[in-house]
Amino acid sequence: MTESITTRMRDLIKQIEYHRKRYYLEDAPEISDQEYDALETELKILESENPSLTQPDSPSFRVGGGVSDAHQSVAHLNPMLSLGNAYSEEEILEFVARTQASPDHQVDYAAEFKIDGLSLSVIYEHGLMARAVTRGDGDVGEDVTMNAKTIVDLPLRVDDWHSLASVEVRGEVYFDKKTFASINESRLEEGLALFANPRNAAAGSMRMLDAREVAKRQLRIFIYQVLGDVHAFDRHSESLNYVSALGFPVNPHNKRVAGFEALKELTQQWLDLRDELSYDVDGIVFKVDDLTRHQTIGYTSKFPKWALAYKFPAEQATTKLVDIQIQVGRTGVLTPVAEFDPVLLAGTTVSRATLHNFEEIERKDIRIGDTVFIEKGGDIIPKVLAVVVSKRDGSQQPYCPPTNCPSCGDPVQRMENFVALRCVNLACPIQMERRILHFSGRNAMDIRGLGKEWVQQLLACGLLRELSDIYKLNKADLIQLERAGERWADNLLREIEASKAKPFHKVLFAMGIPMIGEKVAELLVDQFLTMEAIEKASTEEIAAIHGVGPKIAESLTSFLLRPTSLSEIETLKDLGLQFQSQKEQVLDQPLSEKTVVITGTLLNWTRNDASALLKQLGAQVTSSVTRKTSLLLAGDKAGSKLAKAQELGIEIVHEDWLQQWRKPDP
Ligand code: IVH
Repeated sequence: MTESITTRMRDLIKQIEYHRKRYYLEDAPEISDQEYDALETELKILESENPSLTQPDSPSFRVGGGVSDAHQSVAHLNPMLSLGNAYSEEEILEFVARTQASPDHQVDYAAEFKIDGLSLSVIYEHGLMARAVTRGDGDVGEDVTMNAKTIVDLPLRVDDWHSLASVEVRGEVYFDKKTFASINESRLEEGLALFANPRNAAAGSMRMLDAREVAKRQLRIFIYQVLGDVHAFDRHSESLNYVSALGFPVNPHNKRVAGFEALKELTQQWLDLRDELSYDVDGIVFKVDDLTRHQTIGYTSKFPKWALAYKFPAEQATTKLVDIQIQVGRTGVLTPVAEFDPVLLAGTTVSRATLHNFEEIERKDIRIGDTVFIEKGGDIIPKVLAVVVSKRDGSQQPYCPPTNCPSCGDPVQRMENFVALRCVNLACPIQMERRILHFSGRNAMDIRGLGKEWVQQLLACGLLRELSDIYKLNKADLIQLERAGERWADNLLREIEASKAKPFHKVLFAMGIPMIGEKVAELLVDQFLTMEAIEKASTEEIAAIHGVGPKIAESLTSFLLRPTSLSEIETLKDLGLQFQSQKEQVLDQPLSEKTVVITGTLLNWTRNDASALLKQLGAQVTSSVTRKTSLLLAGDKAGSKLAKAQELGIEIVHEDWLQQWRKPDP
């Protein structure tokens, strides 16, 4: 039995990894999303019913293995050094002279792009990803294994290394530009501070404590070094070809070059290539390719002398700021956008840049008519760096933030604790358009067919004034719209009806409450179960939820204080939307203040169901046994966690104890 379950699990893992690669990395899926989901679901069910058989390389870890309190410090097996920088051709020439065996004997260099992300060391033990550690101070880094398992293109298992005790690969974790832009877009919508560039976003993501959140962000990696028990390579380029053949992502732009002239030429070619790349690079790394020469050439205390990072010049320009426009987001946040005379920057003509918020304009004293320095740094969106004050001639006008919303004209408010100005009029047309698009979006109510053009028409003719109006649309209204057909109307009405079955957390997220993202909506629903309970909760109670905090709690309670919000909720409830968790509600919470760990195999419960019930009873469910654990729920074949609980004198209960609270579903 056990054997056949394991065989099926391995088979599913193989299929899932193959199709993930086709989908995420090759953009060429072979099966439908539903067929893929069915594979993942089957594996998840097998794992939750047989937790002890869960395979260490299960792709389930790729969606986030769990939440930790802090990352542990770990010493690197080999120090993670930095690179010496060069900014000019002369410095490249000096490097070549230093590293050449003799003036008439040219050496080969492996040239690679210097990816602008953060470095990561990943250890594979007997072919399985065992540990991933950030660079830290070079000697000691942070263990971020759970997060690393979510990196889209990093293998969890390498069959060829099955017999090797320890192999280390190092690489640069990064976001591609498109993913980065969409992360910042949702942060803007949620009223969160924007990441300045993909590197900061990648570094921030790798340090997060909840791997499920990291998984949503789609991090990537390029491997640039191999160490450890693998057979000795003669050349660095050979070692990269080797890991590439094993399925590791290695940047395709790598080339062997010899002699200063060739290095110089390549520098120019790759500088031109830079803008075509879908990720940020900040230079080129030249490494002596012959690994046997590395020891001879040696190291300084900080970096190897056999490598050099040539840094690309920063891309800056000056231009005239002609206007500051205001964009209004879904939650009413006003964002100032600089409009300037078109200028060529890093190969593209740009004429707009976000100014992030009004404080930034004040801090940099940016005035309309100013000559400004703009930079295209790590970000794809250029930024206004500073004002060229010497170019001021007295005609420049200081900028006054708007007092009224440019879309609806209502007075704007500065929210306490937020830098942003916000239009709080829920009927503001542009906000309404964005709220409806958010509401019907894929991750929210998923109403297909309600695109931007239709929403604009429906708003213009007064058929949509608030979210609940979506559920009052009828066929006669819809087919009146320009270019509307019967089939579209029928489909849309079917989609709208089907969306009523969406679970409560989706509805809560779809409502577009400032700062309530998908994850927070789930946490709120897990904790409170019903909308009434959320409405009654105090800001402190909401803020006490792990993963929520005071800012989000305040945003939610101030939303709920508005009569318009409450009446909208009531209307949506009357129309049949879900405002109650589908889990059976347990009124009292006898396990509040208890921390419970589940281990071993439960016979009549899936782990998820057991954990959900314990949460409903008020318990906190965690994954590791510590002194703070109050109860260990031990199933069959409980192993080290049981031993640890016994050692710490923690109360141990078994499956029959769980039965007293509720019988599992038949
Ligand atoms: S080799 C001992 N190759 O740049 C040499 N590093 O400024 C190890 N980086 O810490 C580094 N792309 O995080 C190397 N192709 C590449 C790289 C690269 C980015 C990063 C790496 C390193 C930093 C040094």
